[in-house]
Amino acid sequence: MDVLKIRGGKPLQGTIKASGAKNAMTKLLVASLLSDRKCTFYNVPNIGDVEITLNLCREIGSEIHWDKQNGVLEIHTKELKTSYVPQKYSGANRIPILMIGALLGRTNEDIIVPTIGGDLIGARPVDFHIHALQKLGARIEYREMKKEGAYFAQAHGGLKGSIITLVYPSVGATENTILAAIRAKGTTLIKNAALEPEIIDLILFLQKMGAHITVEADRTIRIQHVEQFVEAEHHVLTDRNEVASYAMAAIATKGRVFIEGAEHIHMIAFLNKLREIGGGFQIKKNGIEFFYQDELRGIHLETDVHPGFMTDWQQPFVVLLTQAKGVSVVHETVYENRFGYTQMLKEMGADISLFTQCLGGKSCRFAASDHHHSLVVKGISSLHGKNISIPDLRAGFAYVMAALLAQDESTISNAPFLDRGYEDLVGKLVSLGADIERGAVRKEALSLQK
Ligand code: EPU
Repeated sequence: MDVLKIRGGKPLQGTIKASGAKNAMTKLLVASLLSDRKCTFYNVPNIGDVEITLNLCREIGSEIHWDKQNGVLEIHTKELKTSYVPQKYSGANRIPILMIGALLGRTNEDIIVPTIGGDLIGARPVDFHIHALQKLGARIEYREMKKEGAYFAQAHGGLKGSIITLVYPSVGATENTILAAIRAKGTTLIKNAALEPEIIDLILFLQKMGAHITVEADRTIRIQHVEQFVEAEHHVLTDRNEVASYAMAAIATKGRVFIEGAEHIHMIAFLNKLREIGGGFQIKKNGIEFFYQDELRGIHLETDVHPGFMTDWQQPFVVLLTQAKGVSVVHETVYENRFGYTQMLKEMGADISLFTQCLGGKSCRFAASDHHHSLVVKGISSLHGKNISIPDLRAGFAYVMAALLAQDESTISNAPFLDRGYEDLVGKLVSLGADIERGAVRKEALSLQK
């Protein structure tokens, strides 16, 4: 069993370089499938989700050359070998469903993609994607296959531009609709679109490829039909999740870390909350330095779509709040079920209570549900080491942070979850002075009841 062993209690000190963004890179690869021209990417993160996405692309005929040392990747999908993404990718990540949008205008064959995976942080349905693609003229059906179901999609009659209003500004549904709309005849308007920095990065790349896309006021994206694409190259956006993760770990451990390449523009909501709790940061020419300066204090925090406070920052931020004096309230409004990880934090010594009500701020989509989507955390708690199993990527980093704070040793299993989104996690933490190592242990040797 692949585990991380962490002996906490050491402040993180030093400099690391931010990697390219997982949630941009994976979509950029899918976008490259629209065209038969070569696409070149720089600042490509060497992470599991990029590997999975590349395997999906290879299955349908992409030729790929990846210089991992220099973070340069070329992808060229001259023609589609197949539009069937095998069942073995079922549950692998959230990417297969986006391949429908990219491939609909490129083939007359049925596009078949397995059911999608990703982190277990709520129901994560794809109804917005399906409705939007249907509105553009696609026929999409869910059919049972041998082991599991798959989505079958085709647009034999061609795609036609339309006005699509998303019920909620979903990141994936916005991306899928943009990709399909590029080849839809006429103009498409996506209203109530998500405008996360990773979506803007996707639009920048698509524009380089030849697409005609305008971001209008009031969450509207306008896409005009194009057929011709050109070779394109793109420097991938920096990962704001990774930057925030190390920033929180630096402050929680009372350390000081400079993150080279951290981009101020994408961190505004995060930096405001850091300032409110009393965490230190300084914006420099080529990055941001984060540091502990004085006792942290409790706050109210609400997650939201961009430009709000990102849901992916929530889990490690709760660990940070265990080190803030007084009471903090956190209201999760993006996912209905993103607090499962708090049980282990409680076992490590955190004082956290969950609520089904919307605490503080506004009432959200989950107000009338039974989901625990608000919490109260009281600090300062002293955390102790445990044997921990990681349930998902961001909870995984939250546990790493908790283990870095604990005075004794923690053993963290399911470490490959972290590889999906954090490039060279152990290397970066070791360079900051953390006492962490990766190794294998026999399953029986690891009692999760410790
Ligand atoms: N939703 C629906 N129906 C849909 C699509 C979404 O009800 O058809 C709901 C979801 O269940 C959720 C909300 O809408 O409650 C927002 O989901 P969204 O579609 O925006 O999320 P996503 O595209 O599946 C991406 C990131 C997530 C990140 C969210 C929100 C990728 C691969 N994933 O997911 O990142 O939390 O946007 O910003 O881009 C992570 O990196 O750890 C991660 C989970």
